[in-house]
Amino acid sequence: MVDKVLGRMEVLRGFIQIPTKSRNDLIGDMLTPCKTLVNGEAAKIDNYGRLWSRFLKGKFPIGSRVQLLKTKEGFQIELVKNASNDVVSMIKTQTKTELSNTPKAEKTLDYLLNLTVRRERKPYSKVIQAKPHTPVYMMHKFWARRPHNVFAELIAHPSEPGDIVLDPFCGGGVTVVEALRLRRKVVGIDLNPLATYVTEMEVSQLNVDNFWQGFWEIKKKVEPELSGLYRASCPKCHSKMAVFDWVEWEGEKPTRMKLICPNCGIQTKEDAEEDVALSKRIEENFEKIVSQRQLWYPKTAIPKGDKTEGIIKDGYTHFWQLFTRRNLLALSILYKEISMINDNDVRKFLAFAFSSSLKWASKQSHLRGEIVEGWAMHAYWLYPKTLEINVWNTFFRRCIAVARGKKYSNENIGIHYRKAQSFKDFLDSKGTCLLLTQSSTNLPIPDESVDLIVTDPPYGGNVNYGELADYWMIWHNKDEVVDKTQEIIINKNQRKGLTEYEEGLTQVFKECHRVLKSGGNMVVTFNSRKLHVVASFVIAATRAGFVLHPEGLLYQPPIRAYTTTVHAMQVGAFTGDFIFTFNKTTQLTLDKFPVEIELKNFKEHIDGLIKNHMSERITEPELRERAYRILIPFLALHSRSAITACREAVNYFESQIKRLEPNFKKLRRQIIEERRKAFLIKNSMKKSLTVLS
Ligand SMILES: C[S@@+](CC[C@H](N)C(=O)[O-])C[C@H]1O[C@@H](n2cnc3c(N)ncnc32)[C@H](O)[C@@H]1O
Ligand SMILES: [Zn+2]
Repeated sequence: MVDKVLGRMEVLRGFIQIPTKSRNDLIGDMLTPCKTLVNGEAAKIDNYGRLWSRFLKGKFPIGSRVQLLKTKEGFQIELVKNASNDVVSMIKTQTKTELSNTPKAEKTLDYLLNLTVRRERKPYSKVIQAKPHTPVYMMHKFWARRPHNVFAELIAHPSEPGDIVLDPFCGGGVTVVEALRLRRKVVGIDLNPLATYVTEMEVSQLNVDNFWQGFWEIKKKVEPELSGLYRASCPKCHSKMAVFDWVEWEGEKPTRMKLICPNCGIQTKEDAEEDVALSKRIEENFEKIVSQRQLWYPKTAIPKGDKTEGIIKDGYTHFWQLFTRRNLLALSILYKEISMINDNDVRKFLAFAFSSSLKWASKQSHLRGEIVEGWAMHAYWLYPKTLEINVWNTFFRRCIAVARGKKYSNENIGIHYRKAQSFKDFLDSKGTCLLLTQSSTNLPIPDESVDLIVTDPPYGGNVNYGELADYWMIWHNKDEVVDKTQEIIINKNQRKGLTEYEEGLTQVFKECHRVLKSGGNMVVTFNSRKLHVVASFVIAATRAGFVLHPEGLLYQPPIRAYTTTVHAMQVGAFTGDFIFTFNKTTQLTLDKFPVEIELKNFKEHIDGLIKNHMSERITEPELRERAYRILIPFLALHSRSAITACREAVNYFESQIKRLEPNFKKLRRQIIEERRKAFLIKNSMKKSLTVLS
């Protein structure tokens, strides 16, 4: 007799993989493939020790424990433990394969330290393919995280272990995490409290076993109740004890639902009208329950902003309106229970998983085909069909992500993270990491004390970090929104244009210049479709006293997946980054022609590119990329002495691009269509191959 927990594929496809160690007992010397019976029904065993039967297809819920018994006629299967009421074990099985695939510490420390070229002053020049995020970055949302492997190289190249690295715009923490992995000391600063919070959680150590213990404590207390909020009836056996994972709404009408039935396993149904009654009951009793149970949720009004205007116009005045009453209730119950956990670390990280769940918990989630997408837009946004996800299931999934992320960071950073209270703590090695939530226009760091600066500043108004972070911070700081006064950004509502943006960057870069050791490098990634924004950034750095190294401009292509999808083409912006290496020096000799000649050359170069752009099928992003390679060094060389000529070059380029807009649109449409066709052909070939095999 063999005990077996059923995996997703087994249930969906109708087989049981007989464990290798039990094959002798169960299959013995039977010649496979062969026919047999399972519970009296026709079955077969294949060469891989899989027992197949139609009878098994969807018979038991995923995660069920079954006993497999060899009988005279064939096999008998009995259910030992029915997992369907136990959503956690259902998800656990689903994610089991995922967990077993958890990347180990990606590279050993030896390898990482080998990346170290001792304080190399020459800019990093190797083009490396960006890799997808490691688990540490998958724990919590932050916008526009840069590729970790690129940043690791940028840090390792000009510094050595023990050096002090600064990121004045640390955002989602890539510089901080990678610097600690490489055993540097690091200062990460960001005005946005969500950025420093997420970064701190990424680098802090966690005892993952204690974390899971805390999770089970919470589960015992709230899971039965929370799952009760998501009860639905099974379309197959009509049991009312099914629990839904998500339901899609079109206005008041539920249009699609995925649920887990205790008898039938995973089910989907198109018409979930019969389940609306529960949702209505929760809505009617919401206030009463909240006040009786003394629950809390944020009551904050949505501040007027560039990225909130749309939903405010649609009638959403408060953040809580972005949630269904059911999810708001589930969140506030969970929030309260987490806050009562005694162990500090465990409470902090469960709260982190809670915070991470918020990305999925609002009506801003939606379905993309069969895939559940959390809120990923750079604006508050509700799709015509909204998605209500099961808060408990989501929280559990996020706990798994946190556990994976912490396992990774424990292995890669571990005790090397020592929280510093001030810069002084670096000097006697009390601390290795200083995180500050403040504006970098004023750095509490002594002159000439930092070895390297690696950063990724805000790109104009590309992402409105402050406005978007409010959605999370009102839960963390009990109704307090982010103070955006000093945020460097282009934002109409904050009355900040290009001038303010350039001014802000200049101030930060001046501070960077002051704290950097003489001869040191400031390495910056930057990417904007708008040349005015790129120009402001280059002008700010040079005005602050930095010199762009003659070889200090490198184009880093994006993660390959981004470039091959049809979607990426539609965006129409270059998705890679330029990497700039600026130097704090007075000694670099730079070849410089009179500005008038360089301006004339630049214009001629642009005219040449434009002339052939249709025949050579040069898209707008490609044209920009090529032009920037010429224009950026020009700006870096001349912006201090000939700012008018610099602005003229920028305006000339942008006016030409504007003139050619219809051409670019046409070309983009053509390419998208070609890609779409190629994609369809590839897919249909794949399908026919699967059918054949
Ligand atoms: C592009 S993000 C950084 C992304 C980050 N490198 C990463 O990989 O996730 C820019 C950051 O600059 C921050 N920021 C804007 N103005 C700032 C200021 N005055 N001082 C410090 N940080 C600021 C924003 O809050 C945002 O997190
Ligand atoms: Zn059922």
